[in-house]
Amino acid sequence: MTFPLLTAAEAASLIDNGQNVGFSGFTPAGAPKAIPLALAERAIAAHNAGQEFQIGVLTGASTGPSLDGALSKAMAMKFRTPYQTNSDLRDRINAGKTRFFDLHLSVMPQVTRYGFLGPVDVAVVEAADITTGGGIVLTSGVGAAPTFCNMADRVIVELNRHHPATILGLHDIYEPADPPHRKQIPIYKPSDRIGSPIITIDPAKIMGVVETDLEDEARGFSEVSPLTETLGYNVAEFLAAQFADGMIPKPFLPIQSGVGDIANSVLGALGTHPGIPPFEMYTEVIQDSVVDLIEQERVTFASSCSFTVTPAVLKRVYDNLKWFRSRVLLRPQEISNSPEVIRRLGIISINTAIEVDIFGNVNSTHVMGRKLMNGIGGSGDFTRNAYLSIFTCPSVAKGGKISTIVPLVSHVDHSEHSVQIIATEFGVADLRGKSPFERANEIIDRCAHPEYRELLRSYLTIVEGGHTPHTLSAAFRMHEQFQKTGDMHACSWDTNG
Ligand code: COA
Repeated sequence: MTFPLLTAAEAASLIDNGQNVGFSGFTPAGAPKAIPLALAERAIAAHNAGQEFQIGVLTGASTGPSLDGALSKAMAMKFRTPYQTNSDLRDRINAGKTRFFDLHLSVMPQVTRYGFLGPVDVAVVEAADITTGGGIVLTSGVGAAPTFCNMADRVIVELNRHHPATILGLHDIYEPADPPHRKQIPIYKPSDRIGSPIITIDPAKIMGVVETDLEDEARGFSEVSPLTETLGYNVAEFLAAQFADGMIPKPFLPIQSGVGDIANSVLGALGTHPGIPPFEMYTEVIQDSVVDLIEQERVTFASSCSFTVTPAVLKRVYDNLKWFRSRVLLRPQEISNSPEVIRRLGIISINTAIEVDIFGNVNSTHVMGRKLMNGIGGSGDFTRNAYLSIFTCPSVAKGGKISTIVPLVSHVDHSEHSVQIIATEFGVADLRGKSPFERANEIIDRCAHPEYRELLRSYLTIVEGGHTPHTLSAAFRMHEQFQKTGDMHACSWDTNG
């Protein structure tokens, strides 16, 4: 069967106002670009003509400016889930103008299948190749594409020639059955293959193909700063000591690492530390530093959901595909982030916090308890099920005016029950086996910025007792102080102050 070749505008015209569209990809990697841009243009034209045009946008995770950026600027989103990192979209969400549903990334495919998010009317999927029988070879990210393709009545393919067809074999596509028929996911080591290299769909569902040649929209990283370097070193030193003490079994356990400058720095430090042997990764995102470590054979295998790397680094991978194919595997997000597999493999998870409280609760998503930053992403999937769960963050934000260590987090994503280790540039707090009061002292003494330590210690002198001692009327006083004056330094527990 051959499929009609469409322009992006023709493809966009196949999608109706009010429909739900599932887009492939995970982060900007593997996300369609031409069709969402055409959808945004269609929305703008419709709105100018006084007509309605909005679609429900389902994705794997964040996307790039051509998708989240363009559709949100065009006010073309009816609702959005499960994760985003785009500043325009974030502003609209925080202004209450776009409905957003923040979701653990591992559950996105299954809640879509369960029907909790409504129908998937159309799937728009970026492919490196397509067979006449409806076999789709994905590109640099998988996300929830297999589920969207299976569920949608209609599928439109963006065939992106920027990705070589020889990428075939990099993906391992597997969709578990739904309860009550689900069986174990048979992954016993990060390199286990359990599925197919392609998504196979009924070719009759494929409405057409839009040909493009567009690079991924992944952004680069800032240079490693003295702060991120020290933070990375602290985590590497801690893990090396744990390994030397036999607390991490030989040969080492697989690592999951979040995205961003801190995560990049931590990985760099793990890769060079003499006390840490070469290791595997079972993670959701491969970023630039991981490709370096694979090339240096410090990372011996990486299972991921996407290659979220800069175009130059992706070219390095594609130029050496045969070599990388035996060292890397891309999986759907419900497998890369599967709680069952994470717990079985014994993952060491390393994620970044916005703020942490003295008892070990972590806020990853909301600034001052109200404003969404990005979303929980995969951090909960990994933290809750890890062998060892680590959170990193600088001890202060906004030039020191905010302490990231506070009496009580203003929003909870990860509770004290799942968070084991906190690391800042000042040190590492090990919360395992400690009572709330012991945890508070450990976090303040080892992780808080020296300028805020006395304030945090004195909070512990005004608390009203109990197993987790708090004074509710004072627990958010540091946040309130920032909101009043733009600086937490002058916070006082004195009720007359
Ligand atoms: N209060 C107010 N603002 C804060 C803050 C706090 N306690 N802590 C950080 N910020 C601000 C920073 O100042 C920065 O603002 P800017 O963009 O205006 O410069 C922004 O938040 C990002 O912080 P940064 O230190 O640059 O860290 P990051 O880029 O590594 O992002 C998270 C940190 C927590 C936002 C990010 O890791 C995230 O979204 N995590 C949730 C998803 C996740 O963990 N996924 C992991 C699996 S891949």
